[in-house]
Amino acid sequence: AEDDLLPTGKVAKAKIEGDCALAFPSLSHPVSHSPAFQRPSQLITFSYSPSRVLQFDDSALRYFVNPPHGADLNHGYKRWTRRPEERGRIDGLLSAWSRFKTNLNGQNPEIGVISWRGVITKILTAPYEERDAWELNVMCVDGTMYFEEHLSDARLKEKSDLEPRQLLQSYYGYSFESYCTSSTPNERNQHASGSSSGTSGAVGWGGDVDTNVQWCSVVKTKLGDTRIVIGGEVDCVRGRYTGNTDNFVELKTSLSIRGAQDEARFEKKLLKFYFQSFLLGVPEIFVGFRKPSGYLTTTQVFQTVQIPRLVRGKPGAWDPNVCLAWGDQFITFLTNTVRGGSKGNVWRIKFTPKIGVSVILLDDVDVRDVEGGERRVGFLPRWYWEEING
Ligand code: A3P
Ligand code: MG
Ligand code: MG
Repeated sequence: AEDDLLPTGKVAKAKIEGDCALAFPSLSHPVSHSPAFQRPSQLITFSYSPSRVLQFDDSALRYFVNPPHGADLNHGYKRWTRRPEERGRIDGLLSAWSRFKTNLNGQNPEIGVISWRGVITKILTAPYEERDAWELNVMCVDGTMYFEEHLSDARLKEKSDLEPRQLLQSYYGYSFESYCTSSTPNERNQHASGSSSGTSGAVGWGGDVDTNVQWCSVVKTKLGDTRIVIGGEVDCVRGRYTGNTDNFVELKTSLSIRGAQDEARFEKKLLKFYFQSFLLGVPEIFVGFRKPSGYLTTTQVFQTVQIPRLVRGKPGAWDPNVCLAWGDQFITFLTNTVRGGSKGNVWRIKFTPKIGVSVILLDDVDVRDVEGGERRVGFLPRWYWEEING
């Protein structure tokens, strides 16, 4: 059907060992059936202002422009306004979902999962994750599961105190976004040469980086039988914004490919690029290849839906059907597990590469660690809790 972005394929059968564990899927078996994934449809958009205020407008929307050849991604590093690392609270997404629901006139669609896109990307790409473990907090209220990433204090500190080299590399991604975007739709698809940034100009610079500012899209989709509401940042649009996801563009940087090993590494990275974009219905990924020193070498456009075909049979190969089948099993497993609990329960999910997923029910003492005092019930903001229970 039109709505299915992926053909029905095959399923990896993950064994469920015991009540509260889901084993890592076997990657050596062909997948015999994969659940359908519905084309995401956009519900609402919003912006975060420089002072990190959530606004229901498109003030943070950016328009794609071609970056200049050989652009220096080190430009403006000293003027970077860096958003502090924080726990991945779901509040902004719930504000948007709540606002969208007011337009529904009492209809109450049965949503199985509400989550930021980054969390769903982690879940779906887990079958190919060989290194990084992750944890989630999960609550289930009236049949809807809410996911948030759980970061330990140590992990949060690690992310805040990046090594200078890592911090600079992270900046390169944002700098690329500046060179590739403009705050106004531009007919010639180029920045006015060097004029857009006043005294701190570099040719094609789109303005100094402020990572507080984000434009976000919230979509509704369906994986197998589960309706899912997903929110995430969209880097820019190509041409004019028409109110849907058709011309959304994801911007990415990567080291220039200089040999077979680099190529295989890049193909592995494409898995995350693919699902990150696929989940929000972003059809295009614009990649800037750079030198280790931060100078742009080449750029390449990827059509999101074509990426799986591109990596098929290659050394870094992966199969999106394995991920969708796993994601469907993961959701079913969690649904069955948390069904036995009660409304205010918070569950802690731990994913360990090559092992699988375990779940524990946090007791009230632990829950106090994930909540922010009286203003939350579990990890949900109290205003939202009262709204859905009112
Ligand atoms: P690149 O992806 O080009 O490296 P996104 O691509 O999701 O729009 O994110 C924009 C940039 O944020 C990334 O650009 C990267 O520089 C930085 N970034 C995103 N996730 C990160 C992470 N987990 N650690 C460090 N930097 C990250
Ligand atoms: Mg982004
Ligand atoms: Mg990006």
